[in-house]
Amino acid sequence: MTVLSSVIDAIGGTPLVDLARIADASRLDGRLLAKLDHLNPGLSKKDRAARTIVEAARASGELTEGQTVVELTSGNMGTGLAIVCAVLGHPFVAVMSKGNSEERARMMRALGAEVVLVPQAEGARPGEVSGADLALVEEEARRITTERAAFRADQFARAGNPEAHATGTAPEIWAQSGQRVTAFCDFIGSGGTLGGAARFFVPLGVRCYAVNPDRADHPIQGGGYAMPDLAHLRGVDLAGDVTVTGEEAAAHARLLARTEGIFGGYSAGANMAAAIRLLQGPERGGCVAFVVCDSGLKYLSTDLWGQGNAE
Ligand SMILES: Cc1ncc(COP(=O)(O)O)c(C=O)c1O
Repeated sequence: MTVLSSVIDAIGGTPLVDLARIADASRLDGRLLAKLDHLNPGLSKKDRAARTIVEAARASGELTEGQTVVELTSGNMGTGLAIVCAVLGHPFVAVMSKGNSEERARMMRALGAEVVLVPQAEGARPGEVSGADLALVEEEARRITTERAAFRADQFARAGNPEAHATGTAPEIWAQSGQRVTAFCDFIGSGGTLGGAARFFVPLGVRCYAVNPDRADHPIQGGGYAMPDLAHLRGVDLAGDVTVTGEEAAAHARLLARTEGIFGGYSAGANMAAAIRLLQGPERGGCVAFVVCDSGLKYLSTDLWGQGNAE
């Protein structure tokens, strides 16, 4: 045990847990492994991308001392950036759809960020952020970046996002599993986690699967925007796709909490539902790993821990 020079050094290196209780109860043929990235300082896996993008930009000189950072976020990337920017002395502006949960905005503000909330597109429902909502947030993020002569963190384009997972998340899972993981699946937002992890995993023979929602309006915050041609997934050799419903994601997040004591959000549930389906199908007998993308604490105001939880 050592003393870290800042909380930035506490990002990554998260535990990998064997979900033996769920595997037994579901009579799975194989192992289900959860990477607890909700234990990062910002309570999500996006801390990793935030750190790598900001450190690379500072090293290249693209981001100068004291310069403002701007980003479009569903809350998690913004929280990671707020932490990294607070430590390194950059003002940070998070631009987020009003459709994301309120606790995300509060957490970013607590970490010193300025949060700009963008109203949802006509007819959209709170808690369900669509590609159309995201286009409005993008427009506002661009405007603020120009106005403030800021550095745009740009998680959808910058190499630091997948890099964080190619050099962090995936090698950690590989080493922690004793090189036994055979498949990995991830719910796609920017595609940074899946694209980066696949860059490390595929040459080792680990099959990588995309997890997508079954429809455009869904409650799985952080992804499922149905954006064509994501930069981080271009040329990535995926083994297939798994589709999950919002109800399945919620039910599996509740199961994960109740059975394994792991308190994740909707996308953790989506990933687990997909991993179980893979172990019941093409990955039978294997060892499937997935990421607990963020903490269940970020959904206390939503339906996730509401009435359905009592069932
Ligand atoms: C909770 C949550 N799940 C999943 C994702 C998708 O991850 P990625 O952008 O690496 O595809 C995000 C991204 O912000 C997220 O916040």
